[in-house]
Amino acid sequence: MQPSPVDLDSINISDPEFWKASREVRESTFATLRREAPIKFFPEIPLQNFPVGPGYWALTKHDDIWHVSRNPDLFCSGRGTNIPDLTVELNEFFGSMISMDDPKHVRLRTIVSKGFTPKEIGRVEEYVRNKARTIVDRVIEEYSGKEFDFVDAIAAPFPLQIICEMMGIPSTDDRQILEWTNVILGAGDPDFGGTLENLMRVALEIYAYAQALGEDRLKNPQDDLTSIMMHATVDGERMSPQEFGSFFILLVVAGNETTRNAISHGMMQLTKNPDQRRAWFDNFEAGTKNAVEEIVRYASPVIHFRRTATRDTESVDRRSRREKKS
Ligand code: HEM
Repeated sequence: MQPSPVDLDSINISDPEFWKASREVRESTFATLRREAPIKFFPEIPLQNFPVGPGYWALTKHDDIWHVSRNPDLFCSGRGTNIPDLTVELNEFFGSMISMDDPKHVRLRTIVSKGFTPKEIGRVEEYVRNKARTIVDRVIEEYSGKEFDFVDAIAAPFPLQIICEMMGIPSTDDRQILEWTNVILGAGDPDFGGTLENLMRVALEIYAYAQALGEDRLKNPQDDLTSIMMHATVDGERMSPQEFGSFFILLVVAGNETTRNAISHGMMQLTKNPDQRRAWFDNFEAGTKNAVEEIVRYASPVIHFRRTATRDTESVDRRSRREKKS
């Protein structure tokens, strides 16, 4: 069934109420935007003491987003990848490499990629398989046939424990890391105490935790990602404990909530659509790549990323419409 069209003037994707609407409403809203206003300006609205900026242009078409992502000289990340305007220092503090342009970005990326070699991923893969079995076995044992919260019992602890293991964080600190992640990503969300003050307090706590971990691994290297990154060099230079602190915030935040949401949406859709579940499970190995891509697409755990245009430019969509007319 085709969703009913939405009135263009009534659309405000800055309004948190919009994001609480049903999936059908959100999808038909974005369909209207793509069809009638693929580049549309929206004002920012005040969120729990956050600064209110000048507003932003929302690009909703795949070709435009692709073009922007592939042209970092024209659309930079260094002025922030979230909508509120923060200083460069704050953007780098919270966003690390995600809010940087070259040459800073390439330097950090070179260091970080030393931790994501096939050897390191191979080491983690075995851990991931065992962890999946342990978590599911524990849930079966604990709830045996009773109702339980899938997010709390499986979708949240699974990626969290993997990232903590990769980084060399003791399992006794997993819960603390999860709470910190929720406050950082819940900025503006009262359920997670998401005020600017809380965000700053938690960010400083997680930063201090990471710095201490990084300094420890510099002195006592172990078989973990933190040790690899703290000892890696680019042009003879190591990552500083401060840089590691910010990267740590990015990694635990980016790695936890995205995967938690994708796993949760995936579970819900496979439950609602048993024919799809059967089709995947009947041909598990061959179907996995597509199934994962489709779950991530459907869940869309990341709903926006900001870029800032460094000079006047034109969208791909507008250019192609102009070329078609002439
Ligand atoms: C379904 C899961 C995930 C989704 C949807 C996702 C989404 C994204 C997106 C859209 C970006 C690009 C940001 C930009 O263009 O400005 C990004 C970057 C990044 N993500 Fe993820 N991510 C996921 C899982 C993870 C995990 C598990 C980790 C770490 C363990 C991670 C770490 C990072 C890092 C470090 C970057 C920055 C890369 C760079 O700047 O070169 N992500 N992610």
